[in-house]
This record gives sequence, C-alpha cells and structure tokens, in this order.
Amino acid sequence: MSLFSRSLASLKAPALAAAARRPLVTMSPALQSGDSIVSSSQYDRGQIEQILQMSDYMHSARHSGNKLDKFLTGRVLGSMFFDDSAVTLASFHSAMQRLGGTVLEFDHASAKGQTVNDSVQTMSQLVDCIILRHSEADMAKAAELSSVPLINSSSLRDDHPTQALLDLFTITNELGVDSPDGLNITMVGDLAGERAAHSFVTMLSQFSGVTFNFVAPEAFQIPAEVAAVASEHQKLDHFNSVLATTDVMYFTQVAPDKFGSAAAYGEYQERYRLESGHMAGANPGMIVMHPLPRIDEISPDVDADPRAVYFRQAGYGLSTRMALLTLSCGSDSQIQEAKGLSADAARVIDRQPMRKRRAAPPMEVPNTEKYSGVDGTSKSGSRKNLSSRPMQGQSTHTL
Ligand code: CP
Repeated sequence: MSLFSRSLASLKAPALAAAARRPLVTMSPALQSGDSIVSSSQYDRGQIEQILQMSDYMHSARHSGNKLDKFLTGRVLGSMFFDDSAVTLASFHSAMQRLGGTVLEFDHASAKGQTVNDSVQTMSQLVDCIILRHSEADMAKAAELSSVPLINSSSLRDDHPTQALLDLFTITNELGVDSPDGLNITMVGDLAGERAAHSFVTMLSQFSGVTFNFVAPEAFQIPAEVAAVASEHQKLDHFNSVLATTDVMYFTQVAPDKFGSAAAYGEYQERYRLESGHMAGANPGMIVMHPLPRIDEISPDVDADPRAVYFRQAGYGLSTRMALLTLSCGSDSQIQEAKGLSADAARVIDRQPMRKRRAAPPMEVPNTEKYSGVDGTSKSGSRKNLSSRPMQGQSTHTL
C-alpha cells in the first residue's frame, strides 16, 4: 500500500450526507507536474476547485492525525525571499517540512551582485521547486528561466496568488459552502497598494454572483483595472451601511508610513478600524479575514469574536500550501496519486466537525453615535441577506 493510500485508509468513515456536498471535478492539464504558479489569473474555476479539493485532503488528513511526512521525502524546496515576510515564508517552510521534504534557503545578502534571474537559474539546478518573493521581479520571466516549477510568493509588480487560494479555502471552510458563489464581500484597507487584495478580487472573478463593497478613502481605493474584473461592486467610504449584509469582511494591512502625520493615521483608524462595537450590528454569519500581519486595522478586542477567523486563516494557508507544494514539488507519480486521493477524499470527508466555533453573539443595535452609518446600495439596489445560513459548528452535516 502506498503512503497516500495508507493515509486515506486511516481517515474516518465516509458520511453519505457529506458525499453529495462537494462536486467532483475533472483534473486539468494545468495542474500537471512542472507547472509554475505565477499569477492569480492563471487558473479557471475548475482548476481552483481542484486545488481546493487537494487542500481539503491535506487539511482533513492533518486534523485526523494522519502522517503526511513521507509525501515529499527526498524533495528539496528552494526558498528565495528577497523581501521580508512574517507569514508566507513560515507557511511554506512548515508545509514542506510537514510533507517530509527539506528547505534550502537562498541567502540573498551573499548574492555577490548576482541578478535575481541568475540566482533563480542557479538555484533551480539545486532543488525541485522554488518559492520566490522579490519586489521587482518579473515572475513570469523568472519562471520561464527556472528549470523547476516556481511559485510566486508575492511581488509588488505581480500579485500573491497563493494568498488568494488560501483565502478561498478559508471562505469555503469557515462559511461551510462549496464555493464563494453569491457572496457579498466587503474589503477594507489599502485597496490601492495591497497586492493580496488585488489577487483576491481577481481569483473571485472566476465565481458567479459575487458582489463587492470596496471601503477606503479615495487615496486607498481599489484600482480601476482591478474593480473592472469584479462582477458587481460599489465604492464606499465607511462600512457601517453594509455590516448587516456582508458575508465576508476582508481587511488589508494599512502601513502608518503611508500617512503624512500621526494625526492623519489616527483619523484613518478612527473611521476604518474594526472594533467590537461594530460586530454587535454585523451579520451573525459573517466572517472577518485578514491576510496578516495585522498592524492596527482590527482591534484585538475583536479577536475573541467567533466570526474573527484571521488566525485560523493562517492554518488554512498551511493546508493550501501543502497542496500546492505537492503539485509543484512532487514527482509525477506522487502528484498523480495525490490527485486521485484528494478526489476520493472529497467524497468522504466533511470539514464541518473540524470547526469548534461557538455560537455568534446575538444581534444588537450598534452605538450609532460612534458607528454612524453611510448610505450605500449596490448597483442593482439589492443585497442578499445570508444571515440565516448556519455558521460552522452549527451545521447539520456530520461524519
Ligand atoms: N500574508 C502575507 O503575505 O504576509 P507576509 O507578507 O508577512 O508574508
């Protein structure tokens, strides 16, 4: 019995109720061995669903105590981070280690003037795949030059595709939905400068009926070319008017040094920082996300709210990156076997029991003095209210 088969065999018994929940999808050539992950626009809906399926498998196996540490034995990940990372680097390294592979870190301080493209070409002779973060690198060019699969781990010039994939995986798990179709999403923060926000909107453009509220001062508003791929959207300068109808509230980091003075930053925080008082009037079935690291966009008082999922989001990211590393770093036989197992697992695994979320607090009228609303309606003049949807942990799905 193979390693993958042993892991599958030790998963919990199948549940018929769960069997019908997640549709099987046909594996796409785009996910074959040797493909790089360069852009959040390179995947169609079917391919994103395949990645979510494999992420499901990794996540379920991890939480079922299954050993995955032989999956990538003997494979080596080249880690090339030219820019700081508080989350992504650790997430990829942990994912590789949990799969039994090893990590070779590139020391860019000792590059001796070597260009990033030369560094990639050299490293690609030493490892089985590469994760690259570089503020100026042309990721498509770097991937073309690399002799092994290369994963864009964020650049200022391009985007952050693995963040967007883990964000979708978080949404489907935390909301207990098969896809983000029809969700109402409110994004708050530096929507102009944060690449994670752009990647998130781009990836969601593959799904149907997703509506966006872009909440930011004009200087931080979503760029027109990104808004153009969002199916239905509105721009707002406060989130109060959409709290009750939002399914996903997505905050991005806002750097204090983007403001001319401490006073200007303070004014921003006063208006756009999420506080526990806001949560009282928000959709009880909403989730609050943040790619992390957080500076001060969300008050720590919100952390205890069961709708605050941003730290669990990092855990979903680990499972997603385990799936992505298997697809990129695995041998052909490992990848084929992992695909088969993830498709099988999608039929037998229900994610719901993994959630320990408490019941949401009762809806209360917010303090309208401090949290005063700003009128905003969608282009169609209507909003779905999904607040009656059961939250994770309250679902009727069982193993
Ligand atoms: N979420 C994210 O990309 O964080 P880092 O920039 O710290 O890796």
